[in-house]
Amino acid sequence: MRFTALAVLPCLFGAASAHFRLQYPLPRGNFVADKEPEFCGGYPEVTTNRTVFPLSNGFFTIKSGHPDFTLGAIISTVTNPNSFDNFSVNGVNQIVAPYGKEPNAGTFCVPLNISAAGIEGAKDGANVTIQIVFAGGDGNLYQCADLTLSANLTSVPDQTCENTTSTTPHGSGSGGHDASPSATAPGSTQTGGALGVSHGTSAATAVLLAVAGIAAAL
Ligand SMILES: *[C@@H]1O[C@H](CO)[C@@H](O)[C@H](O)[C@H]1NC(C)=O
Ligand SMILES: *[C@@H]1O[C@H](CO)[C@@H](O)[C@H](O)[C@H]1NC(C)=O
Ligand SMILES: *[C@@H]1O[C@H](CO)[C@@H](O)[C@H](O)[C@H]1NC(C)=O
Ligand SMILES: *[C@@H]1O[C@H](CO)[C@@H](O)[C@H](O)[C@H]1NC(C)=O
Ligand SMILES: *[C@@H]1O[C@H](CO)[C@@H](O)[C@H](O)[C@H]1NC(C)=O
Ligand SMILES: *[C@@H]1O[C@H](CO)[C@@H](O)[C@H](O)[C@H]1NC(C)=O
Repeated sequence: MRFTALAVLPCLFGAASAHFRLQYPLPRGNFVADKEPEFCGGYPEVTTNRTVFPLSNGFFTIKSGHPDFTLGAIISTVTNPNSFDNFSVNGVNQIVAPYGKEPNAGTFCVPLNISAAGIEGAKDGANVTIQIVFAGGDGNLYQCADLTLSANLTSVPDQTCENTTSTTPHGSGSGGHDASPSATAPGSTQTGGALGVSHGTSAATAVLLAVAGIAAAL
């Protein structure tokens, strides 16, 4: 039985402190686990070493040691976005990557066609900031990346886009609900609460993600 106790312990710890890392484009600063629940993961000020990023056909890559999470991205065209308010227009969150669920832990590459989102001001040569929103069951987590959009760049340079799932000791404790990633096409702006999720854990996740929308509306 000692084996069981050891196997469960990291799971509980993991569930109480879900974290993710933005691997591409690079975030505003070094990862600080305790600050990840804060706006931009604790980095409220814009950086000047921006990533030149394709206007279409881009992607972002994150790593999560935690399964069963919901992930999406919002965008700001404000010069120095330092509040959730700056990621919405007229109280509507500017979503560039629609929220989708992922049942596994691992490394995930999410397509990001910024052009297709139809955000005013998100055009060739513009300085923008994307904020990745991650909900792993115990609150929203955030990471930001400052970008300069380029129409000339037709793909992300020097990066591969692939998903790799990893097995974790979480499986037995998750209650076995069947989550599936949403395949919503990139589209125009949506409210933060407009998530295509309904059951159990998902409803809680939807509420958490909506907090960003509410904060943005203030
Ligand atoms: C910008 O510089 C900061 C501080 O050195 C670093 O953490 C971050 O990764 C850099 N961003 C890019 C896109 O290189
Ligand atoms: C974009 O940001 C960079 C770095 O801060 C700055 O040098 C450049 O002038 C900005 N470009 C625009 C169009 O604002
Ligand atoms: C950014 O957000 C701050 C705080 O809510 C607000 O004072 C400021 O006007 C916003 N900037 C823009 C350009 O909307
Ligand atoms: C990787 O997984 C994410 C999250 O489920 C999904 O949105 C994305 O389309 C997947 N990417 C690839 C390249 O399969
Ligand atoms: C990105 O969106 C634009 C505008 O909707 C579209 O013309 C383009 O084909 C899309 N690019 C990719 C790689 O999907
Ligand atoms: C895009 O490419 C053209 C032709 O190579 C070049 O003249 C232009 O300056 C480039 N634009 C940007 C924003 O890099």
